[in-house]
Amino acid sequence: MCGCGGLRWGWGHSAPSPMLLLSLLLSSAPFGLLGEETRQLLEFDSTNVSDAAAEPPGRPYPPYLLAEFSWNNITDTLDLATLSATFQGHPTWDPTKAFANGSLAFRVQAFSRSGRPARPPRLLHTADSCQLEVSLAGASSRGNRSLFGLEVATVGQGLDCPSAREQHSIDDEYAPAVFQLDQLLWGPVPSGFVQWRPVAFSQKQGGRDSSLPCQASPLHPTLAYSLPKSPIIRAFFGSQSNLCAFNLTFGASTGPGYWDQNYLSWSMLLGVGAPPVDTLSPLILGIMAAALGAPGLMLLGGALVLLLHHKRSSEYQSIN
Ligand SMILES: *[C@@H]1O[C@H](CO)[C@@H](O)[C@H](O)[C@H]1NC(C)=O
Ligand SMILES: *[C@@H]1O[C@H](CO)[C@@H](O)[C@H](O)[C@H]1NC(C)=O
Ligand SMILES: *[C@@H]1O[C@H](CO)[C@@H](O)[C@H](O)[C@H]1NC(C)=O
Ligand SMILES: *[C@@H]1O[C@H](CO)[C@@H](O)[C@H](O)[C@H]1NC(C)=O
Ligand SMILES: *[C@@H]1O[C@H](CO)[C@@H](O)[C@H](O)[C@H]1NC(C)=O
Repeated sequence: MCGCGGLRWGWGHSAPSPMLLLSLLLSSAPFGLLGEETRQLLEFDSTNVSDAAAEPPGRPYPPYLLAEFSWNNITDTLDLATLSATFQGHPTWDPTKAFANGSLAFRVQAFSRSGRPARPPRLLHTADSCQLEVSLAGASSRGNRSLFGLEVATVGQGLDCPSAREQHSIDDEYAPAVFQLDQLLWGPVPSGFVQWRPVAFSQKQGGRDSSLPCQASPLHPTLAYSLPKSPIIRAFFGSQSNLCAFNLTFGASTGPGYWDQNYLSWSMLLGVGAPPVDTLSPLILGIMAAALGAPGLMLLGGALVLLLHHKRSSEYQSIN
């Protein structure tokens, strides 16, 4: 990676180290995770919604503003071995005690080499990327069928918002039954990216039976928020950038959902330069070879039989 297109990103000519990425996240999160600012935790009552793609996915409850959360001391969760740290917070004012036993957590992790995390959706990461995992655990929802969402604000490029792309793929052993990868790209030759599989999980293990669809609304410029004052954020994005916002919502009224175990998690990958390109896994290649190969071999075999048969009969003819 070359700090491509790079003034705005301010890396000069070398890629940032994982440590620098991590300190960037730590100095800015949770109010500006690498330019991502999740500003509101949304909650919707989906009781009477039958259309899974409805927008909004139900009647909205008053949102929780993340600016009004109190957060743990990040120093206590900083783990240099895994280059990770967790922000855990709950609303400062919580008259209904919804967060008495619960919290919203942002775990950030930088990577020193490429690979895949152990937990689904196991997106391929490079040394130039970080993962942000959001989890909501133990908080009481306000309805029996509450769907949660996040409003995310992100830094644009000059006057433009980053471009949103959907990539479609065949089934993947790393994220079974998820055929899509959502991306935000900064600049035509991407100088930065965010990507995620549109899937969240209602259980810690993140199995297939606990996977929830994740929907993203279109990205719009917003004047509602301003860039965090952190010097490192200003250095990274410049002070002239505008902000863009979109909503992510997790789950559908038909379930599974947060109500199963009062648990929800979702993750995304953020990075500098062009996003990593996932290739087909060996298992999928094997399956494809088998699926395409068997009829292919049969055709080939059939053709050979025909050829041989033809040859033999023409030999017979010449003998005759
Ligand atoms: C759902 O619909 C039923 C019947 O139409 C109504 O009685 C109930 O109040 C509605 N609930 C909500 C949360 O809108
Ligand atoms: C966080 O904890 C560290 C040590 O555990 C301490 O030095 C630091 O002052 C604390 N920060 C805040 C904001 O309380
Ligand atoms: C929190 O947990 C305690 C102990 O498990 C329980 O007694 C209490 O009712 C819980 N509070 C809420 C609001 O869920
Ligand atoms: C939740 O479900 C219970 C039992 O099914 C019902 O008594 C209660 O009124 C429901 N609460 C809401 C907020 O819909
Ligand atoms: C996100 O959803 C909430 C509740 O429906 C709405 O008030 C807010 O304007 C939405 N934000 C964006 C950026 O669409």
